[in-house]
Amino acid sequence: MGFQHLHLFLLLSFSFSSAKAAVFTFKNNCRNTIWPGTQPGSGKPVLNNGGFMLKPGESYSINAPLGWSGRFWGRRGCSFDASGKGTCLTGDCGGVMQCAGAGGAPPATLVEFTLDSPMDFYDVSLVDGYNLPVSIIPVGGVSGSGSGTCQQTRCLKDLNRSCPPGLQVKNNSRNRVVACKSACMAFNTPEYCCTGAFGSPSTCKPTNYSQAFKASCPTAYSYAYDDATSTFTCKGANYRITFC
Ligand SMILES: *[C@@H]1O[C@H](CO)[C@@H](O)[C@H](O)[C@H]1NC(C)=O
Ligand SMILES: *[C@@H]1O[C@H](CO)[C@@H](O)[C@H](O)[C@H]1NC(C)=O
Ligand SMILES: *[C@@H]1O[C@H](CO)[C@@H](O)[C@H](O)[C@H]1NC(C)=O
Repeated sequence: MGFQHLHLFLLLSFSFSSAKAAVFTFKNNCRNTIWPGTQPGSGKPVLNNGGFMLKPGESYSINAPLGWSGRFWGRRGCSFDASGKGTCLTGDCGGVMQCAGAGGAPPATLVEFTLDSPMDFYDVSLVDGYNLPVSIIPVGGVSGSGSGTCQQTRCLKDLNRSCPPGLQVKNNSRNRVVACKSACMAFNTPEYCCTGAFGSPSTCKPTNYSQAFKASCPTAYSYAYDDATSTFTCKGANYRITFC
């Protein structure tokens, strides 16, 4: 090819590779169907229109553009009609299958990403409570300097089972625990929510409730300022996000 064509070719291949910053591959290891939700950070695009269905054993991949940030969560116990309207037992995003930018109702276990900043930052968070076990596994990344270890992080314990009575969410018709609130959601006090006088890392300390989450899931965020043991970094990786 001529020089100009080569130039165009290089330009195109560069923009293609930079347009695809990371591939997120979701896998459902749960016994039931789940409906993952996606919500972008401010100014970032909505991935996959905000939601999709995953049957037990299924996988599904989504490309995220360079510099994407946002969160994922799983919805369970959903039923949607043909037009995509309905409800979910947990993690519902306003009664629609495709969340289109809306977040999930807590309690929901969150998977959070900030890509290319300049490393990828990621975490599993119980700050908005728990509804499903989930893990993040970086694939093919390189460890950066400092804290860039490309470590796996997860909350795979069944927190329904160990959920303290004051935090339990039950399936009305069956009286079973289906999710576990954060103490902030359950009691809405500055101490539990890290607001007001408790609104800084030095004043907001772990509480007996967040410590119970931390004991079950040591690498997940258990309260708002749990950064030191809960946020991970990697570079140039793709990510496997597995529910259950
Ligand atoms: C909640 O209860 C309903 C009605 O009994 C049942 O159909 C559904 O499977 C239950 N969901 C979960 C997640 O237990
Ligand atoms: C949580 O609650 C749901 C609904 O009752 C149940 O099906 C599930 O087994 C529980 N545990 C986990 C880890 O999801
Ligand atoms: C946490 O501490 C509060 C206040 O001291 C107490 O009422 C509550 O029962 C404790 N909860 C757990 C799960 O230990």
